[in-house]
Amino acid sequence: MSSLDTLGRPMRDLRISVTDRCNFRCTYCMPFDEYKWIERQEVLSFEEIERVVRLFLKFGIQKVRLTGGEPLVRKDLHCLIARLAAIPGLPDITLTTNGALLAEQAEALYSAGLRRINISIDTLKSDRFTALTKRGKLEEVLNGVFAAKKVGISPIKLNAVIIRGTNDDEILDLAEFARANGFEMRFIEYMDVGNANAWSLEKTVTKKEMLETIAARFPLREVGREHGSAPAVDYEYLDGAGQIGIIGSVTEPFCASCTRVRLTADGKLVTCLFAESGFDLKTLIRSGASDDEIVAQVVKIWMARTDRYSDTRWELVRSGLYEARDHKKIEMITLGG
Ligand SMILES: C[S@@+](CC[C@H](N)C(=O)[O-])C[C@H]1O[C@@H](n2cnc3c(N)ncnc32)[C@H](O)[C@@H]1O
Ligand code: SF4
Repeated sequence: MSSLDTLGRPMRDLRISVTDRCNFRCTYCMPFDEYKWIERQEVLSFEEIERVVRLFLKFGIQKVRLTGGEPLVRKDLHCLIARLAAIPGLPDITLTTNGALLAEQAEALYSAGLRRINISIDTLKSDRFTALTKRGKLEEVLNGVFAAKKVGISPIKLNAVIIRGTNDDEILDLAEFARANGFEMRFIEYMDVGNANAWSLEKTVTKKEMLETIAARFPLREVGREHGSAPAVDYEYLDGAGQIGIIGSVTEPFCASCTRVRLTADGKLVTCLFAESGFDLKTLIRSGASDDEIVAQVVKIWMARTDRYSDTRWELVRSGLYEARDHKKIEMITLGG
């Protein structure tokens, strides 16, 4: 069953936030010490998540990404990975993590079936890392990155949000670090996700700027988007040292090819990263709905999907009419990146 939304887009990627809690307070994501966290009983259980994934396979989902908040603070996450890895026909499971707890969990995650991972690392300077994450230690994250490599997780992609005046002087250092160690850098334009991060357009280093900086030192060739719909445009180093990806969702929006659907930790189905609300799938599930009823509801939601937030934002930004505060959004920490 391949249902298309109102703009002809199929559903291909399911991103599941397994918790909204986080051991960091990144200034660009969730800087607040306190927040109205989701009550534990409202968080989907591993059984419920597994059921949703099995049902979503009917739509032609090709990839499931576990995220958060910080997914590794969810107790026994490897058990969820093992459940998902055992589902016949699920092609790809991956995880986005800040890496702080990875050193101690890498082995269990790999044994459970995790083969791919994205680890966020925005700077290679210890003091800056702690300032940016408010609670993180660079050394712990680096230990996590190398533990993942040691147990055989591959590919390892490193995510860096580049913010003008904060870490834009490290684009080349990050690229070199990844090249030297066999990792793939993913450079991300700073976005106005959520409402907590005081985003401004001036702080967004554009995809074009990042590309020019890297290509001036390491010549590159464009490869394109994985499956034609991935957020990152990939580039290959001409000297054969691997590839990088750049996500330009602010200045080069890709809504037209967006095949992503998101499930929050409390079971809200959300069809856009910049959405204000989602559909309460958890209540439907916990009311005893049958598989057919759940699938029918999801089809209905997907077929009515009109989201093209980043396209519209870019049109408004270019006309000088965009004001991030005017648009209330679900926080990234709730939604999952
Ligand atoms: C919300 S985090 C959740 C997973 C995990 N805690 C982590 O940090 O990787 C997922 C991704 O979103 C990115 N992100 C958070 N806030 C962002 C922002 N304002 N602009 C661009 N990317 C952002 C993070 O850097 C991370 O790579
Ligand atoms: S969810 Fe990820 S990006 Fe957001 S504060 Fe936590 S570690 Fe940082």
